[in-house]
Amino acid sequence: MSDQRPIGLLDSGVGGLSVLREVRALLPAENLLYVADQAHLPYGTRDQREIRVYVENITRFLIGQGCKLIVIACNAANAAALHHTRALFPDLPIVGMEPAIKPAAARTRSGVIGVITTQTTYQGALYASVVDRFAQGLRVVTQVCPDLVWLAEQGAPQTEAARAIVANYLAPLQAAGVDQVVLGCTHFPFLLAHLRAVLGEGVEIVDPAPAVARQVRRVLEGRAWLNDSAAQGTAAYFTSGDPQRFAQIAYQLTGEPISAEQLCWQADQLA
Ligand code: DGL
Repeated sequence: MSDQRPIGLLDSGVGGLSVLREVRALLPAENLLYVADQAHLPYGTRDQREIRVYVENITRFLIGQGCKLIVIACNAANAAALHHTRALFPDLPIVGMEPAIKPAAARTRSGVIGVITTQTTYQGALYASVVDRFAQGLRVVTQVCPDLVWLAEQGAPQTEAARAIVANYLAPLQAAGVDQVVLGCTHFPFLLAHLRAVLGEGVEIVDPAPAVARQVRRVLEGRAWLNDSAAQGTAAYFTSGDPQRFAQIAYQLTGEPISAEQLCWQADQLA
C-alpha cells in the first residue's frame, strides 16, 4: 500500500526549506506541503504563547489539507509549541527538532561546543534539557544570532557585509575554542558558505536536518504510511507573507523554481 497523503512542514519563513530538501532527498516519492508563516516572522524573538497559537493554526490548516505527518521545521516553534501541539493533536504524528548537542558532544575533541540559535530556542526548556542530558562535562557556548535569520530571508547574499555579520557572531565561539558548531535554527544552513569560510577546516558544522528526515522515515515506516510510488512527489508552498517574494528567495536559496500560494488567517486566528 502506498500512502499518497502529503507530509506537512512549517517554519516562520524560508528556514524550514533546509529541512524540506533533506526530507525530499531521503523520501523522493513523498508529496510535501510547506507553510512559511512570514506574516509573523521572526519566531525567534516572540512570546512563546503567540508562537503556540500560530503553530496550532498552521497545524489545523495542514490537517485540513490531508497531511499524514507534520514536521515542525523550526527550532523556535519546537521550543515554544511542540508539547502543546502534540497534546492538541494526539493522533497526528509530529516530528520535532532540537539543537544537535548530542552528535556534537560525541564528536568534540576540544570539549567545547558552540551553538548558534535564536532567543526563543535558547530560553526554552528543550534547550536546557538537551544541554543537561548530552553535554555533561563539556562546555557549551551559545550565541543568539537574530540577524542571521534576516540574512537567510534576504536570500543569503554572498557579500562582504553578510560575511562580517556572520564573523562577528562567531568570534566569541572561536575565542572559546569550539570544534563543533551546532546550527540551532533552520535558517542557518543557508549561510553555510559564510560559516565555513569564517570557521575554517578545523570546526565541524552540525545541521540536524538529515537526522530529522531519517526520523520522518522511521515514523512513516512504523505506521506503514510510506509513499512507495515510483514517481517523484510534488511540493506545494504557502506563505502568510508575500508569495512572490517567498518564491524569489526560495529560488535564490535552493535553485528550484517554485510558486507559492497566499495563506490568509482569519481575524480570530491572529493572536
Ligand atoms: N527557523 C526558525 C528556527 O529554526 C527561526 C527563525 C525565526 O526567528 O523566525 O528557529
